[in-house]
Amino acid sequence: MWGIIATWRMALEGIEEAQDILENQGSASEAIEVAIQNVEDFPYYKSVGYGGLPNENMEVELDAAYMDGDTLDIGAIGAIKDFAHPISIAKQLSKEKVNNMLVGQGAEKYADHENFEKKIMLTDRAKIHYYNRKKEIEEQQIKPYDGHDTVGMVCLDNSGKMTAGTSTSGLFMKKQGRIGDSPLSGSGFYVDSKVGGATATGLGEDLMKGCISYEIVRLMKEGKHPQEACEIAVCQLDKELKERRGQAGDISVVAMNNQGEWGVATNIDGFSFVVASAIQSPIVYLVKNINGKCIHEVASEKWLEEYIQERIKPIVQK
Ligand code: GLY
Repeated sequence: MWGIIATWRMALEGIEEAQDILENQGSASEAIEVAIQNVEDFPYYKSVGYGGLPNENMEVELDAAYMDGDTLDIGAIGAIKDFAHPISIAKQLSKEKVNNMLVGQGAEKYADHENFEKKIMLTDRAKIHYYNRKKEIEEQQIKPYDGHDTVGMVCLDNSGKMTAGTSTSGLFMKKQGRIGDSPLSGSGFYVDSKVGGATATGLGEDLMKGCISYEIVRLMKEGKHPQEACEIAVCQLDKELKERRGQAGDISVVAMNNQGEWGVATNIDGFSFVVASAIQSPIVYLVKNINGKCIHEVASEKWLEEYIQERIKPIVQK
């Protein structure tokens, strides 16, 4: 049995590539890297890799992580600039004995030394988004921070090995050096091949407060189905944040156990995700939280068409 689950519709083409690998007895390690690289390469996704939205200095600083569920090896990078595939750098770091998490210049020095592909990650389209947002902030006094749709994946291969990975440009207009949940073990991702894995997307500052990915794996270890584990973890964190702080940021999660069973939960409307397995071709779903129960449905053809049109539509500087 193999399976792979990912946050957001943007993962679809990458999941299709992963499907080929997993069907042909490839490893969860290779499949997840190829799938996330695919998202990092697509210039129209504004929150991951090439074309990702910049920080307040108009620099694209990227975060990524990789975890091996057999060995519990973890590699992560934070605030790295101008490398094409943050996920691959994180994966290689996971194999080092120490120095598994590097940030900023240290991460760039490592990536350069290890001959990872360099690429200017700031696109002309991202610059237009930046200038437009700057203008909106000045004119309408709206909050600068917005747009943080991390791609996160959990993968199971036919040998029973599981992996997790994340990649993101983080919050649009973030401070230089800001790091979200995505490279943080237990917050943005966690996987244990003896149990299962989980990954999160949403407001990193709030996801960290509940170490939500670890919490989901912990609940699955207690015997909960991934769906139940996701719903409990999201509801509890959302409730705690609202009680103690008056509000909760966006929290969305996906999880898969080592039997290929999966779950999803969110506290927002419009969260999409993708699943494929030995018994299911890649499918995009949409999920809603109705009084703590998360109900998902297959995305319609109309939704899928509008999604891609919206991503690639021309934009102009205001
Ligand atoms: N969840 C991504 C971030 O907050 O950076």
